[in-house]
Amino acid sequence: MSSSTESLRNDHFLIEKMMRALNVTADLLQAGKSIPAPFLEQALDFTKNFTNVCHHGKEEDTLFPTLERGGMPRQGGPIARMLLEHEMTKQLAEKMDVSAKAYVQTGNAGQLVADIRSYTDHVSQHLTKENFRLFAMADMMLQGKAAQVNQELAKTEEAKLQSLGKTRSHYEQLVKSYDAEIRKNQA
Ligand SMILES: [Fe+2]
Ligand SMILES: [Fe+2]
Repeated sequence: MSSSTESLRNDHFLIEKMMRALNVTADLLQAGKSIPAPFLEQALDFTKNFTNVCHHGKEEDTLFPTLERGGMPRQGGPIARMLLEHEMTKQLAEKMDVSAKAYVQTGNAGQLVADIRSYTDHVSQHLTKENFRLFAMADMMLQGKAAQVNQELAKTEEAKLQSLGKTRSHYEQLVKSYDAEIRKNQA
Protein backbone atom coordinates (compact mmCIF):
# COMPACT_ATOMS: atom_id res chain seq x y z
CA MET A 1 0.00 0.00 0.00
CA SER A 2 1.40 3.36 -0.99
CA SER A 3 -0.60 5.62 1.33
CA SER A 4 -2.14 5.42 4.80
CA THR A 5 -5.50 6.52 3.45
CA GLU A 6 -5.68 4.13 0.49
CA SER A 7 -8.38 1.95 2.03
CA LEU A 8 -10.47 5.04 2.94
CA ARG A 9 -10.01 6.56 -0.52
CA ASN A 10 -11.28 3.27 -2.00
CA ASP A 11 -14.39 3.63 0.18
CA HIS A 12 -14.80 7.17 -1.15
CA PHE A 13 -14.85 5.88 -4.77
CA LEU A 14 -17.66 3.51 -3.85
CA ILE A 15 -19.60 6.20 -1.92
CA GLU A 16 -19.14 8.71 -4.78
CA LYS A 17 -20.55 6.18 -7.23
CA MET A 18 -23.61 5.79 -5.01
CA MET A 19 -23.94 9.60 -4.73
CA ARG A 20 -24.06 9.87 -8.55
CA ALA A 21 -26.62 7.05 -8.73
CA LEU A 22 -28.72 8.77 -6.04
CA ASN A 23 -28.65 12.00 -8.03
CA VAL A 24 -29.91 10.09 -11.08
CA THR A 25 -32.63 8.65 -8.80
CA ALA A 26 -33.64 12.20 -7.80
CA ASP A 27 -33.68 13.28 -11.49
CA LEU A 28 -35.99 10.38 -12.36
CA LEU A 29 -38.31 11.02 -9.41
CA GLN A 30 -38.42 14.69 -10.33
CA ALA A 31 -39.38 13.72 -13.90
CA GLY A 32 -42.34 11.77 -12.49
CA LYS A 33 -40.87 8.30 -12.83
CA SER A 34 -41.87 5.85 -10.11
CA ILE A 35 -39.10 4.02 -8.23
CA PRO A 36 -39.99 0.75 -6.45
CA ALA A 37 -39.57 0.59 -2.67
CA PRO A 38 -37.20 -2.43 -2.56
CA PHE A 39 -34.91 -0.62 -4.99
CA LEU A 40 -34.80 2.58 -2.91
CA GLU A 41 -34.21 0.44 0.16
CA GLN A 42 -30.85 -0.71 -1.28
CA ALA A 43 -29.56 2.85 -1.52
CA LEU A 44 -30.78 3.61 2.02
CA ASP A 45 -29.10 0.45 3.33
CA PHE A 46 -25.83 1.56 1.76
CA THR A 47 -26.05 5.10 3.21
CA LYS A 48 -26.99 3.91 6.71
CA ASN A 49 -24.72 0.89 6.94
CA PHE A 50 -21.77 1.10 4.59
CA THR A 51 -21.26 4.86 4.88
CA ASN A 52 -22.28 5.59 8.48
CA VAL A 53 -21.28 2.37 10.24
CA CYS A 54 -18.41 0.95 8.20
CA HIS A 55 -16.69 3.93 6.56
CA HIS A 56 -17.23 6.49 9.32
CA GLY A 57 -16.32 3.77 11.82
CA LYS A 58 -12.96 3.29 10.10
CA GLU A 59 -12.29 7.02 10.26
CA GLU A 60 -13.56 7.58 13.81
CA ASP A 61 -12.18 4.42 15.44
CA THR A 62 -8.90 4.13 13.54
CA LEU A 63 -7.77 7.10 11.43
CA PHE A 64 -8.70 9.97 13.77
CA PRO A 65 -7.18 8.37 16.92
CA THR A 66 -4.01 7.59 14.91
CA LEU A 67 -3.80 11.25 13.85
CA GLU A 68 -4.38 12.39 17.43
CA ARG A 69 -1.53 10.20 18.62
CA GLY A 70 0.56 11.83 15.89
CA GLY A 71 -0.18 15.26 17.39
CA MET A 72 -3.29 16.47 15.52
CA PRO A 73 -5.66 18.06 18.05
CA ARG A 74 -9.14 16.55 18.42
CA GLN A 75 -10.74 19.86 19.35
CA GLY A 76 -11.03 22.87 17.09
CA GLY A 77 -9.27 21.33 14.08
CA PRO A 78 -10.15 19.23 11.06
CA ILE A 79 -10.99 16.14 13.18
CA ALA A 80 -13.69 18.04 15.10
CA ARG A 81 -15.05 19.41 11.83
CA MET A 82 -15.18 15.94 10.22
CA LEU A 83 -16.93 14.47 13.30
CA LEU A 84 -19.55 17.19 13.08
CA GLU A 85 -20.01 16.47 9.37
CA HIS A 86 -20.44 12.74 10.08
CA GLU A 87 -23.23 13.64 12.50
CA MET A 88 -24.83 15.84 9.82
CA THR A 89 -24.49 12.98 7.30
CA LYS A 90 -26.34 10.71 9.72
CA GLN A 91 -29.13 13.23 10.27
CA LEU A 92 -29.53 13.87 6.52
CA ALA A 93 -29.64 10.10 5.88
CA GLU A 94 -32.37 9.73 8.52
CA LYS A 95 -34.34 12.56 6.90
CA MET A 96 -34.00 10.88 3.49
CA ASP A 97 -35.18 7.61 5.04
CA VAL A 98 -38.33 9.27 6.44
CA SER A 99 -39.16 10.98 3.13
CA ALA A 100 -38.54 7.71 1.22
CA LYS A 101 -41.11 5.96 3.43
CA ALA A 102 -43.56 8.83 2.86
CA TYR A 103 -42.94 8.60 -0.90
CA VAL A 104 -43.65 4.85 -0.89
CA GLN A 105 -46.95 5.49 0.91
CA THR A 106 -48.17 8.57 -0.93
CA GLY A 107 -46.35 8.57 -4.27
CA ASN A 108 -45.46 12.21 -3.63
CA ALA A 109 -41.74 12.57 -4.44
CA GLY A 110 -41.11 16.28 -3.71
CA GLN A 111 -39.64 15.94 -0.23
CA LEU A 112 -37.60 12.87 -1.15
CA VAL A 113 -36.06 14.63 -4.16
CA ALA A 114 -35.07 17.60 -1.94
CA ASP A 115 -33.68 15.31 0.77
CA ILE A 116 -31.63 13.25 -1.72
CA ARG A 117 -30.13 16.47 -3.10
CA SER A 118 -29.26 17.77 0.40
CA TYR A 119 -27.72 14.43 1.32
CA THR A 120 -25.59 14.01 -1.82
CA ASP A 121 -24.45 17.68 -1.74
CA HIS A 122 -23.32 17.35 1.87
CA VAL A 123 -21.60 13.99 1.44
CA SER A 124 -19.84 15.01 -1.80
CA GLN A 125 -18.45 18.14 -0.13
CA HIS A 126 -17.35 16.11 2.89
CA LEU A 127 -15.51 13.56 0.72
CA THR A 128 -13.76 16.33 -1.22
CA LYS A 129 -12.58 17.98 2.03
CA GLU A 130 -11.22 14.68 3.30
CA ASN A 131 -9.55 13.74 0.00
CA PHE A 132 -7.78 17.04 -0.48
CA ARG A 133 -7.22 18.23 3.09
CA LEU A 134 -7.45 15.71 5.92
CA PHE A 135 -6.21 12.69 3.94
CA ALA A 136 -3.45 14.76 2.34
CA MET A 137 -2.29 15.79 5.86
CA ALA A 138 -2.67 12.18 7.09
CA ASP A 139 -0.56 10.83 4.22
CA MET A 140 2.23 13.22 5.20
CA MET A 141 1.94 12.69 8.97
CA LEU A 142 1.81 8.91 8.71
CA GLN A 143 4.52 8.43 6.12
CA GLY A 144 6.26 5.13 6.73
CA LYS A 145 3.29 3.76 8.67
CA ALA A 146 1.05 3.09 5.67
CA ALA A 147 1.11 -0.70 5.93
CA GLN A 148 0.31 -0.64 9.66
CA VAL A 149 -2.50 1.94 9.32
CA ASN A 150 -4.09 0.06 6.41
CA GLN A 151 -3.92 -3.16 8.39
CA GLU A 152 -5.72 -1.48 11.31
CA LEU A 153 -8.30 0.01 8.94
CA ALA A 154 -8.91 -3.45 7.46
CA LYS A 155 -9.45 -4.86 10.96
CA THR A 156 -11.98 -2.15 11.83
CA GLU A 157 -13.73 -2.67 8.49
CA GLU A 158 -14.03 -6.38 9.13
CA ALA A 159 -15.45 -5.82 12.63
CA LYS A 160 -17.98 -3.23 11.42
CA LEU A 161 -19.14 -5.37 8.49
CA GLN A 162 -19.38 -8.39 10.75
CA SER A 163 -21.61 -6.41 13.14
CA LEU A 164 -23.87 -5.71 10.13
CA GLY A 165 -23.77 -9.33 8.93
CA LYS A 166 -22.51 -8.10 5.55
CA THR A 167 -19.36 -8.24 3.44
CA ARG A 168 -17.49 -5.64 1.42
CA SER A 169 -18.26 -7.50 -1.80
CA HIS A 170 -21.97 -7.34 -0.91
CA TYR A 171 -21.81 -3.52 -0.84
CA GLU A 172 -19.60 -3.34 -3.95
CA GLN A 173 -22.12 -5.50 -5.80
CA LEU A 174 -25.05 -3.45 -4.42
CA VAL A 175 -23.59 -0.20 -5.79
CA LYS A 176 -22.74 -1.80 -9.14
CA SER A 177 -26.22 -3.23 -9.68
CA TYR A 178 -28.04 -0.14 -8.34
CA ASP A 179 -26.01 2.09 -10.65
CA ALA A 180 -26.55 -0.16 -13.69
CA GLU A 181 -30.29 -0.43 -13.03
CA ILE A 182 -30.89 3.28 -12.45
CA ARG A 183 -29.00 4.19 -15.62
CA LYS A 184 -31.17 1.82 -17.64
CA ASN A 185 -34.18 3.86 -16.49
CA GLN A 186 -32.39 7.07 -17.39
CA ALA A 187 -32.21 6.13 -21.11
FE1 LIG B 1 -15.55 11.30 6.89
FE1 LIG C 1 -14.49 9.59 4.49
